[in-house]
Amino acid sequence: MNDDRRSPRACTSAAEEVLARDLRHVWHPYTQHGTESEPIVIARAKAASLFDADGKEILDLVSSWWTCTHGHSHPKLNAALAEQVNRFEHVMFAGFTHQPAADLAAALANALPGDLNKVFFSDDGSTSVEVALKIAYQYWINCGEPRRRNLIAFDGGYHGDTLGAMSLGRGSQFFKSFRDLMCEVMVLPYPGTFEGDDAVDEREAGTLSALEALLTDRRDAVAALIIEPLLQGAGGMRVCRPSFLNRLVAVARDAGVLVILDEVATGFGRTGTLFAMEQADIVPDLVCLSKGLTAGYMPMAVTVAREAVFEAFLGDSFDRALPHGHSFTANPLACAVALASLALFEEEKTLQRIARINRSHRAMMAALAARNDVTRPRLIGSVLAFDVKEAGGYQSEKSRRLRDWYLAHGLNIRPVGQTVYLMPPYCITDEELARAYAGIAEGLDALASGAPSAP
Ligand SMILES: Cc1ncc(COP(=O)(O)O)c(C=O)c1O
Repeated sequence: MNDDRRSPRACTSAAEEVLARDLRHVWHPYTQHGTESEPIVIARAKAASLFDADGKEILDLVSSWWTCTHGHSHPKLNAALAEQVNRFEHVMFAGFTHQPAADLAAALANALPGDLNKVFFSDDGSTSVEVALKIAYQYWINCGEPRRRNLIAFDGGYHGDTLGAMSLGRGSQFFKSFRDLMCEVMVLPYPGTFEGDDAVDEREAGTLSALEALLTDRRDAVAALIIEPLLQGAGGMRVCRPSFLNRLVAVARDAGVLVILDEVATGFGRTGTLFAMEQADIVPDLVCLSKGLTAGYMPMAVTVAREAVFEAFLGDSFDRALPHGHSFTANPLACAVALASLALFEEEKTLQRIARINRSHRAMMAALAARNDVTRPRLIGSVLAFDVKEAGGYQSEKSRRLRDWYLAHGLNIRPVGQTVYLMPPYCITDEELARAYAGIAEGLDALASGAPSAP
């Protein structure tokens, strides 16, 4: 039966059954089941909104972990998926290929700058990073420089939860338990900036000279540098300037180090351009994409390499080939929806929609900057972020109270520690944005008065 036609009572009891089964059998991600409240059962989603079983609307202001781009349940994306599923659902990808994968690879190569032409498919952001690391590592072996094995990353960086990806985010409190398993990574300070920051030049210069010093010391030992371009996501929505990124890449290139851009979160419009790298006018050796790749529909990722990197893997022996692959590599359903999503960027003039969101956020940022309880407001593309003074770290009591208050008031906003941010789907309307801004301010007022609790 269609959920919409159920009576509210039937919906509620069906939802209660779902919840009961969930509580008995499901282990949720990034969740302390000993303290966390019950999850909300979602019955349907449309555009920028999620709806629970009772029909209560929740604005999805974090785009469901930054995956949803054009909006939930978009008719054209639904149709692309349905059309592909009626042809075939999946086929192994070694020794076989298919139109959705070949077309998507060509479309991505066309959309990306420079000669980023060779697309390696995988399943999620973390695996796209693992693939990039393995390519970088083996590239130097294949090039006869096996001593180049160290990696450079940035403090506050987050690249995923698999072992290699975790090593890159080794400073993160999330990964304390796994430090002994990690590979060696050199971590540089990240010169994050914000509105009204007058010390950014100094911090950027500090990072660049730290990189230069490191590369002078260990010039022939470094395989690759990896960075989330312009916006560190999980590290607290920290923004850096395109000019800094441009200079950073130039320094790495001078030392022959491979540059990996992790655009898992920034790709597909989040920073105002299709890819963040465009604003810094750089072409990396490898780029990781996921999340918005399929508009949030299907788990899929790609690692795209420049021609020269791919060519280092060619030869007569399998030893030079990349020994990596997943059962669901280049899943045709995911490829079909990713292709349709790329087309929507043109059809719906999505970058203009993002520019509209950016203008709207800018006015809100001014209001936030005037508050005593807010610090470091920042804005890039469709992402507005700020820190709440004395809100504590990840999952702190205050940050959870704030999250719960927002949810209870129909807003899916999940602070990362002290950082509150909005990263809405691009279809969000002006009225919905106004609702989000009003809610943000009310939630902060409630937190300040010490009583943000459910209504
Ligand atoms: C920049 C970045 N890289 C990698 C990942 C890992 O992606 P996934 O959660 O799909 O494994 C994330 C996830 O948030 C991310 O933000």
